[in-house]
Amino acid sequence: MYDEQTPQHIAIIMDGNGRWAQEKGMPRFLGHREGAKTVREITTSCARLGVKQLTLYAFSQENWQRPPREINFLMGLLRKFLVKERDIIMENNIQLTAIGRLHNLPKEIQKELTVTREMSSTNTGMTLCLALSYSGRKEITDAVKDIIDKAKRGEIDSDDVTEDLISEHLYQAHMPDPDLLIRTGGEMRVSNFLLWQLSYSELWVTSAFWPDFTEDDLKQAMKEFSSRQRRFGKVIPLNNNKQVVC
Ligand code: IPE
Ligand code: IPE
Ligand code: MG
Repeated sequence: MYDEQTPQHIAIIMDGNGRWAQEKGMPRFLGHREGAKTVREITTSCARLGVKQLTLYAFSQENWQRPPREINFLMGLLRKFLVKERDIIMENNIQLTAIGRLHNLPKEIQKELTVTREMSSTNTGMTLCLALSYSGRKEITDAVKDIIDKAKRGEIDSDDVTEDLISEHLYQAHMPDPDLLIRTGGEMRVSNFLLWQLSYSELWVTSAFWPDFTEDDLKQAMKEFSSRQRRFGKVIPLNNNKQVVC
């Protein structure tokens, strides 16, 4: 269970579904279907391993530019996930939340999301946060707009604008920053994910496509995290008893 070497908050860019299918000569949508199974496995693994929050990048704002058939399939999968996984969410004491421009999602998905969020809102175990119609730049833009509206109403002035205030105006006000960012599919980029929150997250990338990502891969990422030294810009003595010589 939880100890200080366990990342409290893991964020995952679940990439590579399309390539997983294409490599097998199958249509891309089958990769998404397979990827949905991995979501269930990794979510329950994280809950079991003592992770406090798991944030999954499920659909980006930019993904709306994909072919309509692929988008429709992904929305159908999301709807099924929100309905079918309710039992798993409740059995594992998971609280479901979501970030992104959720109002851009189809109405029936917004409805199912609300039901699952409300149903799980008093659960005390891991938080599962789905990033949906999400863009890190848009999140910061939306926060700036809210802050300007408050300033116009005279509720705050420029001296009140601090990092904490900006954090409070992001989609999930009290979300701790991710300790560990995992990206599957091998790309070395953040693709507009959690741009504010990732400033000091540890990065771990695997070439495995998301449908092939297993609990063993997750454990390997967590093990490597536990051996990383997070310095946050400071100098840390090699041995705590020794002074730093500059
Ligand atoms: C990630 O897999 C899922 C979403 C972006 C919704 P991709 O669909 O991006 O798969 P690749 O990267 O094309 O293989
Ligand atoms: C990132 O994957 C978004 C999600 C996993 C939901 P993409 O496949 O959209 O990212 P790029 O296009 O390779 O940067
Ligand atoms: Mg991709």
